[in-house]
Amino acid sequence: MTNQSQQTGFLENIPVHLVSAGDYEQEARQRLSDPVWAQIAGGAGDELTLRKNRSAFDALDIIPRLLADFRQADTGVHLFGRRHKFPLLIAPIAHQQLLHPQGELATLAAANALETTFIASTLASTPLETIAAESEQPSWFQLYFQPTREQTLDLLQRAEAAGYEAIVVTLDAPISGLRNRVQRAGFTLPAHIPTPNTAGYKPPAPRNLAPGSSVILNGFMADAPRWEDLQWLREHCNLPLLAKGVLSPADAEQCRATGLDGIIVSNHGGRTLDGLPATIDVLPAIRAAVGNELPLLLDSGIRRGTDIFKALALGADAVLLGRPYLYALATAGALGVAHLLRILREELEIAMALSGRPDIRSIQPDAVTGS
Ligand code: FNR
Repeated sequence: MTNQSQQTGFLENIPVHLVSAGDYEQEARQRLSDPVWAQIAGGAGDELTLRKNRSAFDALDIIPRLLADFRQADTGVHLFGRRHKFPLLIAPIAHQQLLHPQGELATLAAANALETTFIASTLASTPLETIAAESEQPSWFQLYFQPTREQTLDLLQRAEAAGYEAIVVTLDAPISGLRNRVQRAGFTLPAHIPTPNTAGYKPPAPRNLAPGSSVILNGFMADAPRWEDLQWLREHCNLPLLAKGVLSPADAEQCRATGLDGIIVSNHGGRTLDGLPATIDVLPAIRAAVGNELPLLLDSGIRRGTDIFKALALGADAVLLGRPYLYALATAGALGVAHLLRILREELEIAMALSGRPDIRSIQPDAVTGS
C-alpha cells in the first residue's frame, strides 16, 4: 500500500464535535493523505468555480413567513413516478474504495438506511450489478459515453438489466479538467483501486494526428460525444434519462428537445473548467427556459439544509450531494454517511419550520432574496 491508499481506523461512534458537513470536512482533512485530499477536495485551475459554489449560496438570504399551517407538513417529492422522502440524492462519485475499504457499498448502506437514492458512477470501484443487488430502493446509474457505441450500449444494457431506475448521462467532462491542486500533490490512482464496470472494454486505438495538430482539440475532442450521440442514446435507453452538467438555458432546451426526461444543473463540483458559474446562479434562467414540468436537479456546493432550501426555491426539484458524503465516509464509513444524511434532513426541516414553508411545493422564489 502507498500513502495514497485508503486509510484505516474509522470512527465507530460519532463524537459530539461532528454536527455539520463542514465538521466532517475538517475531520476528513486530518485523516486523509495530502494526495487523496487534493483529489477529492480540489477543483480546477485557481478554484474560482469551487469557491463560487459556496459564495453564491452564502449570498442568498431566506425570507421567512410567519404562522404557517404545518398540519400536513412533508419533505416528499415525486421524480419519475417514485416518491422520494427527501429531495436529496447521492451524487455519482468515482473510486469510493479510495476512502473506505467497502467503498460504494458503505455509502449505499447509509443510503438504504435513510431511503435515499444512490447514483452509481460508471467509474465506481464496485461492479454496477453488485450495487444494484444491494440497493434496497432502486438506484440510478451514471453513464459516461465509452469510446465505442457498442461499449456504451453494453454498459447501458447492463444497467437496465441490473434494475437501475434511471440513467444519468454526464456530458460536461469529455476530457478531464486541469486540476492543478491534484497535479501539485502528485496524486495518481493506486493500482489496487479497480474500475470493474469498464475493465473489459478495449481502450480506443490512438488517433493518427496530422503534424502540428492539437492532441486535445483534434485528438480527444474529435472523438468526444456530440448531440447525435445523445439522440442515439435516447433512442436506445428504456429508462428515464437525465443529462448531467447543464449550465446554459440553450443546452437545457436542446436536452428537452432531444427527449431527455430531466436535467442536472451541475459544474461537476468545480472540477472541470475553472470560471464556470455557480449552479445556483444559472438555475432560474434554466428553469425559465424549460418550463415548470421538466424535473431539474442541481448539485455543486450543497453543504447545508439551507442550501437545499435555496435550490428548491430557485427552481430545483431536488439536489445531489457530492464531496460531503466522501468526508463522512472517510471518517466513519456507513455510520458517518448515515449521520450526515440525517443532519442534512434535519437542517432542511428546521429551515422549512423557521421559514414557514411546510412542504416542498411551498418553497418558491419569494422564499429567497439576493440572487
Ligand atoms: C465527482 N463527480 C462525478 N460526476 C460524475 O458524473 N461521475 C463521476 O464519476 C464523478 N466522480 C467524481 C469524483 C470526485 C472525487 C468528485 C468530488 C466529484 C461530480 C459529482 O457527481 C458532483 O457533480 C459534484 O461532486 C457536486 O459538487 P459537490 O457537492 O462535491 O460540491
